[in-house]
Amino acid sequence: MAKIGFIGLGIMGKPMAKNLLKAGHEVVGIDGYVPFYPREMKERNLAKAKASKNFTLHETLIEKTEDLESILKGASAIYHLAAQAGVRASWGHDFAGYVEHNVLGTQRLLEAAVNAKVPRLIYASSSSVYGDVNELPLRESMALSPVSPYGVTKLAAEHLVHLYGKANDLSVTSLRFFTVYGPRQRPDMAFHRFLKAVRDGQAITLYGDGEQTRDFTFIADLVDVLQCALIQGKPGLVYNVGGGQRISVLKVLETIATVTGREVRIDRQEGQKGDMRDTLADTAQAARDLGFVPKTPLATGLKAEWEWICS
Ligand code: UGA
Repeated sequence: MAKIGFIGLGIMGKPMAKNLLKAGHEVVGIDGYVPFYPREMKERNLAKAKASKNFTLHETLIEKTEDLESILKGASAIYHLAAQAGVRASWGHDFAGYVEHNVLGTQRLLEAAVNAKVPRLIYASSSSVYGDVNELPLRESMALSPVSPYGVTKLAAEHLVHLYGKANDLSVTSLRFFTVYGPRQRPDMAFHRFLKAVRDGQAITLYGDGEQTRDFTFIADLVDVLQCALIQGKPGLVYNVGGGQRISVLKVLETIATVTGREVRIDRQEGQKGDMRDTLADTAQAARDLGFVPKTPLATGLKAEWEWICS
């Protein structure tokens, strides 16, 4: 039985904690419960994990905790999945929260991991580190030029992770996730908002012309890759993790109409500052080292999220 530190208990919290506990590990969860994510949603996600004697939860922010080192002592690995998320909300005054949680929080966590002699760390990075480039698919080796303040903080954190990895006895691997969706998706994200609007008979807010494309990634496809990364992820490497298809937001709306059998009304609004135009992951590296193959087609994933939204 190994002790695993698990920082950030959002969309991946429940399935990951469940699998690790099932495999007999001791799981130490840390989450700051920032108001961005409704508290009761996280409570529901974690109800089963909390019932296990092998699960401990620390409600605290990693950048504020004095005893992070003692909490992590004896852990054989850390999953760092905590972030102040949200691309479009990262402009203006709220940027301070992004710097604190994503940059300072990551640095504090890395210091504690090194001092506690934790040998391994997996970092959840984001496709938003790429920015708008002229070439698709996006490859890990490309130059990075984020177009949102959020992306800048995720990239700074990724750099910190790899810097601490090089300078210490800490083996690090980053996964760049591409627009993750499915049951328990963050409430500010497109599919969650779209499906909720359809459920409640309201119009969907569409930013821009709807021709922007995303490589949407279903949550169940990620859980396996997160687990594989711990053992098979090469130290110092970064892996793209995407759904394998580039889909426009308009196509998503069409699919929602089919999946839900409801009318989809659209309220068009201006394109948002900080939004990348297109994303598509080159996942060859993740396929080679982690055996990653995205399996879930959009309609199947949307149906699962629709059922969750309606439940
Ligand atoms: C998402 C997450 O919010 C980030 O935390 C994550 O790091 C990022 O994916 C990533 O993969 O790097 P985003 O791609 O903007 O960012 O995801 P959605 O919120 O699902 O938006 C997808 C598209 O739908 C965007 O073009 C957005 O402008 C559009 N959208 C969103 C709307 O048209 N209406 C809405 O109400 C919400």
